[in-house]
Amino acid sequence: MHPKELPLLNILVLHGPNLNLLGKREPEFYGSLTLDDINSLLREEASKLDVKVFCLQSNHEGSLIDAIHHGADKYQGILINAGAYTHTSIAIRDALSAVKIPAVEVHLSNIYKREDFRHHSYIASVVIGQISGFGAQSYILGLQALTACIRQELY
Ligand code: DQA
Repeated sequence: MHPKELPLLNILVLHGPNLNLLGKREPEFYGSLTLDDINSLLREEASKLDVKVFCLQSNHEGSLIDAIHHGADKYQGILINAGAYTHTSIAIRDALSAVKIPAVEVHLSNIYKREDFRHHSYIASVVIGQISGFGAQSYILGLQALTACIRQELY
């Protein structure tokens, strides 16, 4: 048991394609923070919440799927911004559904305020919930929500 009597939670944070370009990529949608900045904010929040985050970015659908599969016995939760794969990938949706690790979907931009093709998420139906439109804060809110749901077994 953890010193504060809470079991230590390990959370896998997955960032999908093009998110390695954050900071210089369309800041009007995605803000000016880099991916490293966001990961640092997540680590800060994680230490407040007494959880550990493991962050991975990939531009490759298969690598994200492999990470989800390998996560099955290591992580109690997944925080995922699948980027454009959100709107295209039945395979990532199926991987999340197969491993049954509670997950929360996040987006920096509000995908419902943007082009029609961004309005559908294949992932939304297999996650606890989705947070979209709050910039880097979407990740922080997502981590808080995911942690609370896992601890209260609300998934
Ligand atoms: C995004 C929204 C997606 O539509 C887009 O393809 C991204 C980023 C977001 O965080 O706002 O790459 O997931």
